[in-house]
Amino acid sequence: MKLATILSALAAATLVAAGKFHPIDESKVDYVPNAYIIEYNDNVRHRDAHNSFRANKVDYSVRNEFNVFNGAALTVKSGHEGEALAKIPGIKNVWRVTLHKIPKAPKSTKKATDPSVVSVHHMTGVDVLHKKHKLTGKGIKIGIIDTGIDYKHPAFAASGAKEGCFGRYGKNCRIKYGWDFVGDDYNGANTPKPDGDPMDCNGHGSHVAGIIGGNAMNIKVSPKPPQPFIGVAPEVTIGAYRVFGCYGTSADDVILAAMELAFNEGMDVINMSLGEDSSYKSNPTAVLADKLIARGMALAAAAGNQGTDGVWMVSDTGLSDLGTSVTSFDNNYGFYNSFTYGGAVYPYAPSDAWNMAIDLPANTTLVPIFEKDGSLSDGCDEDVYNGLDVQGKVVLAFGDQSRCLSGRGSIAKDAGAVAILVQTTPVGIATMGGSYDYPFATVEHGTGEEMIAAWRKNPKSRIAWSKRPSTFTVENGGSPSVFSSLGLDGELRSKPDIAAPGGNILSTYTLADGGYTVLSGTSMASPYIAGAHALYMQAKNAKPRGDEIRKVFKNTATIGSNFGSKTKASAAKQGAGMVNVLSAIMTTTSISPDHIDLLDSKHFKKSVKISIKNHGKHSQTYTLSHVPADALNSYNANNTFPLGIPVIEPDYATVSFSASKVKIPAGKTVKITLNFKEPKKGKASEFPIYSGFIIATPNSKGGVPVHVPYTGLKGDVSKVPMQDTVQGFPSLMAQQDWKVVEIPAKTVFDLTDPENAELVPVIASRLGSHTPNFTIRVFDDKKTFVGYLYSNSLGRAFGWAGRVSSTSFHGKMMFSRWTWEGQVLTDADPTLEPVTVPSGTYQVVVASQKKLTKGDYPADYEVFDLGKISIKTAPKPAEE
Ligand SMILES: *[C@@H]1O[C@H](CO)[C@@H](O)[C@H](O)[C@H]1NC(C)=O
Ligand SMILES: *[C@@H]1O[C@H](CO)[C@@H](O)[C@H](O)[C@H]1NC(C)=O
Ligand SMILES: *[C@@H]1O[C@H](CO)[C@@H](O)[C@H](O)[C@H]1NC(C)=O
Ligand SMILES: *[C@@H]1O[C@H](CO)[C@@H](O)[C@H](O)[C@H]1NC(C)=O
Repeated sequence: MKLATILSALAAATLVAAGKFHPIDESKVDYVPNAYIIEYNDNVRHRDAHNSFRANKVDYSVRNEFNVFNGAALTVKSGHEGEALAKIPGIKNVWRVTLHKIPKAPKSTKKATDPSVVSVHHMTGVDVLHKKHKLTGKGIKIGIIDTGIDYKHPAFAASGAKEGCFGRYGKNCRIKYGWDFVGDDYNGANTPKPDGDPMDCNGHGSHVAGIIGGNAMNIKVSPKPPQPFIGVAPEVTIGAYRVFGCYGTSADDVILAAMELAFNEGMDVINMSLGEDSSYKSNPTAVLADKLIARGMALAAAAGNQGTDGVWMVSDTGLSDLGTSVTSFDNNYGFYNSFTYGGAVYPYAPSDAWNMAIDLPANTTLVPIFEKDGSLSDGCDEDVYNGLDVQGKVVLAFGDQSRCLSGRGSIAKDAGAVAILVQTTPVGIATMGGSYDYPFATVEHGTGEEMIAAWRKNPKSRIAWSKRPSTFTVENGGSPSVFSSLGLDGELRSKPDIAAPGGNILSTYTLADGGYTVLSGTSMASPYIAGAHALYMQAKNAKPRGDEIRKVFKNTATIGSNFGSKTKASAAKQGAGMVNVLSAIMTTTSISPDHIDLLDSKHFKKSVKISIKNHGKHSQTYTLSHVPADALNSYNANNTFPLGIPVIEPDYATVSFSASKVKIPAGKTVKITLNFKEPKKGKASEFPIYSGFIIATPNSKGGVPVHVPYTGLKGDVSKVPMQDTVQGFPSLMAQQDWKVVEIPAKTVFDLTDPENAELVPVIASRLGSHTPNFTIRVFDDKKTFVGYLYSNSLGRAFGWAGRVSSTSFHGKMMFSRWTWEGQVLTDADPTLEPVTVPSGTYQVVVASQKKLTKGDYPADYEVFDLGKISIKTAPKPAEE
């Protein structure tokens, strides 16, 4: 039976009439030589097509593969022209790759200027909700806690009005609520100057607001959007709660005040980004978030953009029990500036700091920089430029972000290059930090490879920079964004929760800064989820609690794969998958809970119950299945610091169900027991995080399948190394002129005047993993405990601590410097005042509590005795 089906599919693929080549007027349209967009027949898969090309002796490389549009873009090296390619069995249509126009839209011949082609909404079902169901978020209020909003922007105008407005008393203002808690000059450190006007002078909040509720479909005034676009909920009512000045940071208390006002002004949903990478949910914003959600407000928070910093890096606001931690998928399309090199056109993304098109004379040539082994160099060491002439040229470097980020820009500049292009790794176009005074941009991974090949052919090829951006289908489109942070959380709970489009997002910007821009980040994904809440509430004419909506969104999300992978991406990366708001609204089934935390081998939850509820009007039969996902090996055998990018391995848990088919009457719930077995291959010493999805598929036609992700860690998580001992941490050192140096022999640190001490003891610590309790304990020479270290640089040494990022902005290894000026807290009580210990010899012990332990000292701690130091102090006389 199966064989016959395959044979007939092949027959259909090979016997269909020849495909069609669509010629262009080559004298009028710019095109990429030898590059073609190829659409396959409906029943032809990528693999079949490649076989067919090979059988017909086509020599080619793949520029891009698409899935909604069933086909690929190829660079053909064997001289086959369009007509010849169209005759190959299985091919439906062939086009040249042209400039400034979208190559091919899903299923039709739309142009790039048609917003439905480039919109992200085709990825989430929101296009159908807008067009067919007329859902717009009307009647729902969303609060935006951010940099304010440029409410005059025409994309926020009420229908019929030319520009937007702010306030309850204006005429139908879309930005109806809000407050400026801080004023323009606030930077996080100075005193806020609140006023009633939440105008944005930064841009971020306006971008977020546009994603939620902008409407730039029909803008007639300047500046016009590069392409029309529409937000998720274009008739939602918005509250602008401004907690940032034009630049700088914002304080916790300001944010809490904003959250509360948003709640008091009746916001149904808030979106916020703040938080640290603590991995623990015990921060004030997460705590308040849980309270607000329990009272009926929903909250979407960004998971964070530290996807190349290894596991356990999700931001903490979204870690609240009821809140939603939102991760990002890349848009299928990107609107990019581009350049031509070696006859091909390539998109590029300027660095965050450069943030503008690169405008260089067209006579610049390229210099890829290589390491001795022939691989492209990351450009993080000056030595790579020895003996190279890069004067007036553009450098191409490798984009490994684990060693240096923007540092390579200044190094290239010093070497005399006029710009640097960085090949994104592993895939896609990352945006990097860069510098304000130097053209710095990233290109797709595939672009980097092709540029090197073109350079080898002709090192004198010149780069021509395009004058206006256009639309490209992008590497990694439809897959989890490389930049989005990996879970799990500190207690091995399954976070992030859900994904939304966050890579390559065109939205509104402050009018003063051009009115529109493309940004990437989980900051772009979380407002998408906020907007999706509004559509859901409008569709249901009800306001379910945030965690209820989270469950439905997670149950019905689209499970994604990493670029080029056949297996599903880890749930620690994508959560339950990409939100599908249409399915969320249409489903008549739910699964509870919305995540299964199997924990580690020691606490392994072998048996778990889930509840499936049929909310429909008819009885329904469901089939249960298991879809495994990639396992993430987060440590190398001997590493004491997690890998920046975990090693992905196909290694799966097995699951058996108490029933694999279940009939559920209308309105009833059935419990199913799942029995898990840990994956076989993964080595406990590498602490692999494995995951997968349990799916219940209704048997009726058109029924929406629902699922729940599970996550677990093989090994004993209490054995995860805390300190990065491989790199020599923790250690007892000295600080001299801000440098960390070895302690000279026989030193007695003179701390009688700590402010002016020449040499200060410093405890260098590098936490590779967050800990529930990081402590530095000080003992006297009789081994009596005198207290917890108090440091002028970092404060009290006890309490939870997050891990450090692997490298700094400039590529230097990060660690914490606890200077010690001779003070301790005699007890682990943050309300105590530090006291100065008497002169003498002291022993310093660094102890970090291991994960998922009770915290008994020393059994549950990783303990390092750093040895003894002698200090001279001038204790203050006791106060009256
Ligand atoms: C939305 O959330 C993201 C991430 O949490 C944050 O960066 C952004 O500032 C938030 N925007 C609003 C409007 O709160
Ligand atoms: C490149 O073009 C610029 C501007 O036209 C010119 O000043 C420069 O001399 C040219 N350099 C070379 C190497 O041709
Ligand atoms: C790990 O350490 C062991 C023992 O020190 C050594 O034999 C082995 O080669 C190391 N493995 C790696 C991958 O460095
Ligand atoms: C950290 O450890 C100290 C000392 O055992 C204890 O008093 C304190 O409560 C702990 N803090 C946390 C957050 O567990």
